[in-house]
Order: sequence, then C-alpha cells, then structure tokens
Amino acid sequence: MRGRILEGDERAVRTTFLGHELQSPVIVGSSPASFGADAMIRCHEAGAGAVVCKTINRRAAENPDLHMVLAGKETLINCEKWTDFPMERWLSAEMPQAVAAGVTCIASVGHSVEDSRLCVERLEDIGVVAIELVSYADDTVLPMLEDTKRRVDIPVIVKLSPNSADLMGHARRCVDAGADALTACDSIGPAMRIDIETGKPLMGGADGCGWLTGAAIFPFTVARIAALRQVLPDVPIIGLGGITSWQDGIEFVMAGADMMGVASAAIIHGPVFIARMNARVDAWCAEHGVRELEEMRGRVLEHLPVEQDRGYEMGFDYAACRHCNQCVTACAYRARSFDEVGYAVVDKALCRRCGLCVSVCGFGALAVERGAVR
Ligand SMILES: Cc1cc2nc3c(=O)[nH]c(=O)nc-3n(C[C@H](O)[C@H](O)[C@H](O)COP(=O)(O)O)c2cc1C
Ligand code: SF4
Ligand code: SF4
Repeated sequence: MRGRILEGDERAVRTTFLGHELQSPVIVGSSPASFGADAMIRCHEAGAGAVVCKTINRRAAENPDLHMVLAGKETLINCEKWTDFPMERWLSAEMPQAVAAGVTCIASVGHSVEDSRLCVERLEDIGVVAIELVSYADDTVLPMLEDTKRRVDIPVIVKLSPNSADLMGHARRCVDAGADALTACDSIGPAMRIDIETGKPLMGGADGCGWLTGAAIFPFTVARIAALRQVLPDVPIIGLGGITSWQDGIEFVMAGADMMGVASAAIIHGPVFIARMNARVDAWCAEHGVRELEEMRGRVLEHLPVEQDRGYEMGFDYAACRHCNQCVTACAYRARSFDEVGYAVVDKALCRRCGLCVSVCGFGALAVERGAVR
C-alpha cells in the first residue's frame, strides 16, 4: 500500500506532545532523513508529527567514505558523525526555512556545553518547538542540560544512549536536572561487518566500526522503554530505535512511549514510510477505538511481572495449518509431530514449554494458552 497523507479531520487518533498538537505520532529521528531543510520538509509533507534535525555542532562533520551500510534486514550500521553543515548555516538558512515551511522542528544539539551555548537561544528564536540534547558520554549531557535550561523556555529533551552503563540512573538524573522529555534511545554499538572476500570491514572509519540501528535493535529498545516507563511514570518519552513497521510503533506505545520515532526506516524506504505508517497506525487505532495514544501507553506494565503459572494448553487450528513442518523442525526436543490425519501432537513428556513452535508458525495455526490446565 502506498502512503497517503491523512488530513486533520480524517485522523482517528489525536496527538499532543509537549504542549503541541502534532499532525501524527511519528517523529523523524536525527539522521540523514533530516539532514537539512529540504529533507525535513519532505518528512513533514509525508505526515511526520515532528522532525529532529541532524545534530548541530559548532564544527561541521567530515565523514569517511563508506559511512552507512545495510547490515541485515532493515538494519544499518553507520559511522556518520553529526551534521556536515556549519552551525551558522543551520541558524541562518536551514532551520528558518524548515520552520517557515510549517515543519514542527526539534533541534538536535550536541555534544558539549561549548556547542549548545552557541546556538540554543537562536534556535528558540527561529521557532523550533524543542531542543534535543545528545552526547557521546552521560557526564557531558548534564552540564549541557543545565546550561540550556537556563537559556531557553522551550522544552529540552535528552536523548539517551543505550550504551550507557547506568541508563536508568542517568535518565533519572536528567529528569531531576530539568529534562522535559527523553528520547529512548540512540544507536547501539560499536558494531562491525566484514566483507568475507577481502577481509575488510564494511565501515570506512579508521576502527572499521559503526553504530547499529533499525530492525536489529527493536526488541532492545522496547525493553528499555518499558523499564524507563516503570521508573519514570510521567515523563514524556519519544520511543526511537528499530521501528520498521506500523505495528512496531504501536508496540513502542504499549511499552510506554508517547511518540513513535523513526530514522533507519525513513532512510531506507524514504518519507513514504512515514505516510504509510501513519495511515496504518491510524486505521488500527480506529478499529480498536483508541482516540489518544495515552489510552494504550504502557499497557505492558499491567502484565508485569508476568505471572509464573506453569500450566498451559497447546492450541492447534487444523484449518490454518499448511503442514510446512516448521514447528516440528524448530523443536530441538523432538516433542512435536503430526498424527496420521495431520493433527498436531505434542509429547508432553519431551516438551519444555519453551514456546518456540508457536512463534515460528507463520500461519497462526498454533497457540499457547497460559494458565490453562495441562
Ligand atoms: C546514518 C545515521 C546517522 C545518524 N545521525 C545521528 C545524529 O547526527 N544525531 C543523533 O542524535 N542521532 C543520529 N542517528 C541515530 C538516530 O537518530 C536513531 O537514534 C537511531 O538510528 C535509532 O533509530 P532507528 O532504529 O529508527 O534508526 C543516526 C542514525 C543513522 C542511521
Ligand atoms: S508451523 Fe504452523 S503451519 Fe507449519 S506445520 Fe506447524 S502448525 Fe502447521
Ligand atoms: S514448546 Fe518448545 S519444547 Fe514444546 S513442542 Fe514447542 S518447541 Fe518443542
């Protein structure tokens, strides 16, 4: 399905974030998808609720050749630095142009107080709705945050690094120091891929490494968002890291995110991904009677801790089964088989109740009902 931009009154779900009504819950993360005004405008026109610009620093970055590679299904490794535009270009041209075009702009600023103090007030004057601070080390964010809070009245978001040794503690310290929202999370790494014909790393940086984003990091981000939501129940969170489908966005919200951040998928598929995702999220919300994402935010927490009831019943839907044998193959314990009429059989003496057979069935033919009597 190609994406179509939903007009305001066509939308089932209403999105408000940090006091702004947004055209959708999808926020484009700082990346090549937001490398300058033109890119930001394309994302906005595709229906992005807000767009975080490529990180502004007092120096323009110089990137090595080969700094972005597809490293798996919908997964990237990159060793791209911050923006390759000079700070002044953002302040006098790119950001004013994006704001004038109606983009809800969030300015990403890194990576030290020496950088942020040079630009945050001007970014506020230009009309960005928030500043997102990002750094390579936890201890450089706090001085940046404290200084930026003194300089601007607009909300200040801190982007968390999943590589932090104490992510929860750091998140708490940022909130105590005045962070109005958190972005969870940045890329994971370092990561490396090797060309097996040459033995060379695929990344062109000196250490051959880069940062992992996209599908591969999605479950990790879901867990981080749920953990953050447990310790910080009221802090607005932009979920970011691994979304490659509209369902992923819903999952982020159920983990506890307020907004659905996307970078790699918007790079790989272009801005149409945003339009497609918005349309499908909105349709799902309409079907489920959801008017505000808040209604389902953090739903997973109602189910944590997961009940440790070991009783279960294996369900089998004969009509749905295609007899592909995948469930039999994936059972390392040889507990699964089919009887002579093609009905699934589980040898309960061998079965370890791991659940893998159910999740590898691509046809929805298997189910496990937790808590049911064996
Ligand atoms: C090529 C590339 C460049 C990026 N550059 C930045 C950046 O300049 N600043 C920043 O805060 N995050 C940057 N990111 C990280 C993204 O904002 C995001 O946190 C990360 O990609 C995880 O989201 P995703 O899985 O949806 O891509 C970059 C990501 C990619 C793929
Ligand atoms: S994986 Fe699903 S469809 Fe395939 S044989 Fe098993 S139950 Fe049937
Ligand atoms: S739950 Fe695990 S052990 Fe039991 S049949 Fe399925 S794959 Fe085999």
